[in-house]
Amino acid sequence: MIDFGQGMATGKIILMGEHSVVYGKPAIALPFKQAQITSKVFKTTNKITIDSIYHVGLLDDAPDTLYGIKQLIYIVLVYLKQPFFGIHIQIESSLPAQRGLGSSAAVSIAIVRSLFDAFKVELDQSRLDYFVDVAEQIHHVNPSGLDATTIAFGQAVFYQKDLGKSVIPLKMDAVIVVADTGKKGLTKQAVAEVKTLWKENPTVISPIMDRLEALTNEVRIYLENNEILRLGLAMTEAHHLLRSIKVSDDLLEKLVEVAMKSGALGAKLTGGGKGGCMIALAKNNDQAIRIADALKNAGAENTWLYDLKEIVI
Ligand code: PMV
Repeated sequence: MIDFGQGMATGKIILMGEHSVVYGKPAIALPFKQAQITSKVFKTTNKITIDSIYHVGLLDDAPDTLYGIKQLIYIVLVYLKQPFFGIHIQIESSLPAQRGLGSSAAVSIAIVRSLFDAFKVELDQSRLDYFVDVAEQIHHVNPSGLDATTIAFGQAVFYQKDLGKSVIPLKMDAVIVVADTGKKGLTKQAVAEVKTLWKENPTVISPIMDRLEALTNEVRIYLENNEILRLGLAMTEAHHLLRSIKVSDDLLEKLVEVAMKSGALGAKLTGGGKGGCMIALAKNNDQAIRIADALKNAGAENTWLYDLKEIVI
């Protein structure tokens, strides 16, 4: 088989504003380059085949979990005026699935990039946003569109559903430790439960969402001014608010507690919650290593260090 196209996408982490972003409040997310998804396109003389963790074989026979991806491949091929024939798509990933790190949007973005690369068609940002939105809508995993926006854009973004995104000129001298509980996050369920909770207890949940909004606005300023202590406090407060709307779980609580006891300046769950990942703020690399070791000893399946200086504007 001849390799004739390739596309890559990173993951993302939500720093602030998960859940409240679904209701039109702002959120801040960062591209997560420590884990990536690559899609390679090969020329074949057969029907379309795919090799991914969910399915190896004919695309037509792919299971329901790949329904969005299947539709995405077909609509991209239609746009590129190519037949549904003669390609093999191979997906390689170091981004764990369903952990709040944006793997579903990342796989869509990598596939779109690889198909455009294979057929030598230029891909602009708005076209990419359109295709990825189609796949995400089918999955119904990210009602806010935050994942797709951050990954497609590849910058620290301040995002609001109807207002769009802006780049945050980040000036932080800090390291974020990302830890995977090893348990799949339940974003869809968590989003649905928060909706019910809000409907049943509007006077309790409304101020919580307002506070998440205020914290996100404050964090934007902290990020632009290297205010690491305030950032840490805001992250921890956001975690407590998220816990109060019941999207945390025992594993996330344990890892947040361990991170704080190991000297983190702040810690919170990231993404939809009920499993998935948490993040902790460290003032430097040495402290981040100590926190990551403690998190691993406490049962984290994997940890990554994310130096915020790496984000180039
Ligand atoms: O679990 P993730 O990384 O897909 O993040 C979900 C974030 C939510 O705010 C809970 C949902 C959304 O659509 O933004």
